[in-house]
Amino acid sequence: MRLTLSAERERLGREWPHDWAAQLRATHGFDLSTSLMGVPLPHPIGKASGQLSLKAEQLQHDADAGLAFAVLKTVIGEDSAGERSMGAWAIHETRMAVERRDAADGRCGWTVTWKGRGWDGTLAEYCELIQVGRQLTRDDRLLVLPSVKLHLPPAGEAFREAEYAHTLGAVRAAWGAEPMLVEHDLSPTLAGDARGQSRDAVIRWISELPALIRRHAGGPAHVSLKLMNATFDDAFQADMLRAAADARAVTVFNRLWDDERQVAYGGWELSDRNLRVLASVSRGGQERSGTGNVVSGRQAVAYARAGCSTVQCHTLFQLPLGEYAAEAGSRTARALHQLVFDPADGLLAVMLEEEEAGRLHRVRGELRFRDLVAA
Ligand SMILES: Cc1cc2nc3c(=O)[nH]c(=O)nc-3n(C[C@H](O)[C@H](O)[C@H](O)COP(=O)(O)O)c2cc1C
Repeated sequence: MRLTLSAERERLGREWPHDWAAQLRATHGFDLSTSLMGVPLPHPIGKASGQLSLKAEQLQHDADAGLAFAVLKTVIGEDSAGERSMGAWAIHETRMAVERRDAADGRCGWTVTWKGRGWDGTLAEYCELIQVGRQLTRDDRLLVLPSVKLHLPPAGEAFREAEYAHTLGAVRAAWGAEPMLVEHDLSPTLAGDARGQSRDAVIRWISELPALIRRHAGGPAHVSLKLMNATFDDAFQADMLRAAADARAVTVFNRLWDDERQVAYGGWELSDRNLRVLASVSRGGQERSGTGNVVSGRQAVAYARAGCSTVQCHTLFQLPLGEYAAEAGSRTARALHQLVFDPADGLLAVMLEEEEAGRLHRVRGELRFRDLVAA
């Protein structure tokens, strides 16, 4: 099997097909299928919200490469007068720097340093992008979902529901009548921001947001809360997970905060912490989407073992080109090729390893990704 896969790796490194997951299943017996908030997906790998999902062209490349889903850049909520309570998050910053961020034990890692925050265009422009995404989804090419950041009140203050109503109303008009999938980015981003310093305020946001969003969504909606790494300890991360019980899904956990450099960062410290916390809280019936340093299939499997049925990558798509084995194709295609086919740490290699260790068993001849996802 490894020899066959190695030949396949060579071939697909030259030309990556958009239906690679279906081909893998038909010819090699790897069933990578899973789902996101009830929507069936051919495989678990998606793009996290950020600078790589703010243009129609980026979504086209993702669809061509057979990415499973993409979460659009986070739009900052506004009311009908255009007032944005989280307006400080809608700043414009274009330069990103991909930097090495190795683990204390020497593992080579990467982070993307960037000082911008949310979507800096208009809500109307954002809605146009949603419509591009809806068309790709209807054509069965790529699941695209919006991400919003709505008013997060300090302790003791009311939620500004006018902002929820106006923003979600516009998103609904662009989405259509079908059940809407929406992620809410909780990160107050600058961890130094006073809003994130009260544990009670954070727990209240998490417990009240799902119902608030559903109420203003103008029809059926599934909410995923994207939880941040707060500035508190692991026990608080676990408290946040438990407080999110009313959300259909959680995306866990957004980046760490470097107080000295005043920037968010990722790498091994991020995934080590995320995986540790996820393993400490059973997920019950809730769906988890893992984010943070998913740069290999091995990491995707580690998140699956921590209960994540999908993963959302950002840094993976921004590595220096020399980090990908494929020498042709879009960045999305090269990154997927790397994550799936790497002979040491690729998803297929690790699934075979799990089978050999007796931790994954074939069902009707197939090795299934979903059987790796811990309850
Ligand atoms: C440049 C950049 C911009 C980002 N913008 C957003 C955003 O607007 N909303 C959001 O929820 N997360 C945002 N993120 C976080 C990513 O979606 C992702 O969850 C995080 O970077 C961890 O994944 P990674 O280790 O693969 O990069 C951003 C990350 C980067 C690097």
